[in-house]
Amino acid sequence: MMNESTKNETRILAIETSCDETAASVVDNGTKILSNVIASQTNLHAEYGGIFPEVASRRHIEVIYPVIEQAMRGAFIGFDDLDCIAVTRGPGLVGSLLVGVNTAKGLAMARNKPLLGINHIEGHICSLWLSKEADAIEFPILTLVVSGGHTELYLMLDHGRYQHLGGTMDDAAGEAFDKIGRLLGLPYPGGPAIDAASEKGNHHAFRFPRAALQQEHGYNFSFSGLKTAVLRQTKQFQPGHLPVHDLAASFQAAVVDALVIKTVRAATDYGATAVHLAGGVSANRALRKSMKEALEIPVRVPPPELCTDNAAMIAAAAHWHFINGRRDALSMDVIPSLQLV
Ligand code: KG4
Ligand code: ZN
Repeated sequence: MMNESTKNETRILAIETSCDETAASVVDNGTKILSNVIASQTNLHAEYGGIFPEVASRRHIEVIYPVIEQAMRGAFIGFDDLDCIAVTRGPGLVGSLLVGVNTAKGLAMARNKPLLGINHIEGHICSLWLSKEADAIEFPILTLVVSGGHTELYLMLDHGRYQHLGGTMDDAAGEAFDKIGRLLGLPYPGGPAIDAASEKGNHHAFRFPRAALQQEHGYNFSFSGLKTAVLRQTKQFQPGHLPVHDLAASFQAAVVDALVIKTVRAATDYGATAVHLAGGVSANRALRKSMKEALEIPVRVPPPELCTDNAAMIAAAAHWHFINGRRDALSMDVIPSLQLV
């Protein structure tokens, strides 16, 4: 008989509150989603044009228990059926993270279940194991994590074994999308709005810089020069006369080019078997299309609902830690600037 620490089958309840989504999910074996509940605060923050941290943590407190209850009910299980409770420990907003971690600790204590604190970035990376292609995945994989807070390239050698190859030297890709969205007067968040506006625009209309492409920058990215170039371009137009669609499409093309060029270079240099995209910006249609066109190896992307923040990806990451015997203390704390490697 297998004991609790060596069994390979898991049923995990995960909680994610690192930013502006309150999420809970039950996942079997790191691959099969039984329930996945996400309460988004996007509308709440839209009027500020960005995330208001205090408003975010207050809303997490209001909705976390109903969200968890819904996830448990949706999975048709009780707490006794769980092997472990996993929660995002960082990186993220301190007040938001605290709500999830304290809730998870309370549940773990009350229900006498093991607790695991998970890195949000690792969650995004593991979201690929929730896709239909999970069985085809072979290491080493090159993973590009592109979100509101991160633009990072990792070589994934095995579950839990990552080599950091490069990352952004200034703004994250999602952050650049959100800032340019605001500049163009598009609704928050800017990423999906620019994605949609670009469909109607000409991406050759303006030639914006593709920064840091030279070899000396390795696999690092930079988006601040691009942001300045777009700002300068908008000043050439009378207020109310911005060619929003063309500016959006030309900006998006510059971001996508930079991401594709570096990722292709790294995939070739390290002999990756596949490229995985993860994080909110991986929902971007132009990025998905260009990456697939530029590579001969498989390019895998999570289903759109698993690109942005969710708790299923946290359960997927927790699965591997759990079966390797990791357990965290109930005294575990949040780490807002937690690093993956
Ligand atoms: O992973 P995520 O939900 O949260 C973080 O961990 O940051 O990513 C959110 C980011 C936002 O910056 C949003 O504008 C961007 O992902 N995003 C997109 C798209 N959908 C979401 N960016 C470009 N195109 C999209 N379709
Ligand atoms: Zn995220």
